[in-house]
Amino acid sequence: MQLSVKHLLGIRDLTGQDIQLILDTATEFKEVLQRPIKKVPSLRDVTIVNLFYENSTRTRISFELAEKRLSADTINFTASGSSVSKGETLLDTVNNILSMKVDMVVMRHSASGAPHFLAKHIPAAIINAGDGINEHPTQGLLDAFSMREKLGRLEGLKVAIIGDIMHSRVAMSNIYLLKKMGAEVMVAGPPTLIPKYIREAFDVRVEYNLRKALEWCDVANVLRIQLERQNQVLFSSLREYSLAYGINKQLLDSLPKEIVIMHPGPINRGVELDSDAADSRQSIILQQVENGVAVRMAALYLLSGGRGISA
Ligand code: CP
Repeated sequence: MQLSVKHLLGIRDLTGQDIQLILDTATEFKEVLQRPIKKVPSLRDVTIVNLFYENSTRTRISFELAEKRLSADTINFTASGSSVSKGETLLDTVNNILSMKVDMVVMRHSASGAPHFLAKHIPAAIINAGDGINEHPTQGLLDAFSMREKLGRLEGLKVAIIGDIMHSRVAMSNIYLLKKMGAEVMVAGPPTLIPKYIREAFDVRVEYNLRKALEWCDVANVLRIQLERQNQVLFSSLREYSLAYGINKQLLDSLPKEIVIMHPGPINRGVELDSDAADSRQSIILQQVENGVAVRMAALYLLSGGRGISA
């Protein structure tokens, strides 16, 4: 089976079958990662550049590890310390790198649409590792993989995405993916951080009361306040945000059922999530990070054409 797309720019472009294929392939790679020798030769002779124009811990390390586990050759590029500071354009930078015979590009950029622009101008396959406030497709996929692994299904699952929906590419990729796979989706947070059009445009529930959102859901995917992407004050203070929307263990224990807590990271501890909730038995935050490697192996493998996982 093959993906219907040449690039992984966003979940919006994928079919339900594409998503199923990536998640099922990731399950096979997760099995590979449990072996004493965690490496397969699937991407031998494939060269991949990780092009990061914006900071990252989890995504950058996870892609690099996924590439190494697949036996690909990897190059890491970060904008700081490069000739970007001398005014070199994105397209010139990428064309120079591609002239050294690079096959795939993994890119994070603060501008929404940057990987889509690149896809129109270069022949290599591109994976979007997060673009501005648009999408973060591999995060959406690893979140879905983690939910399916923990609860056995996506269809019919009630997922509340809580926090700064307005500035979150993780929220967008989760909404596209979960709706395509038959889950019920709620977005929750302060009215100023939830786009007015979201209910009608994406067929999601909207809730401004945290307790009601937590009482409704099976899974709470908690997001941080994206201070770096806000150019105006949309709530009074982090302390007030935390009082109204912060999740702690006492609140979780008072709910009628045990829910699963997720967070894409980085966590602002004491703001959207207290440590006693983030580190509790209900949290699968570190499993999300672990699953990111298998999911990114699956995406890289399928976009490169797929040449035998266990060989
Ligand atoms: N979840 C996520 O994208 O984290 P990083 O910004 O550390 O990559």
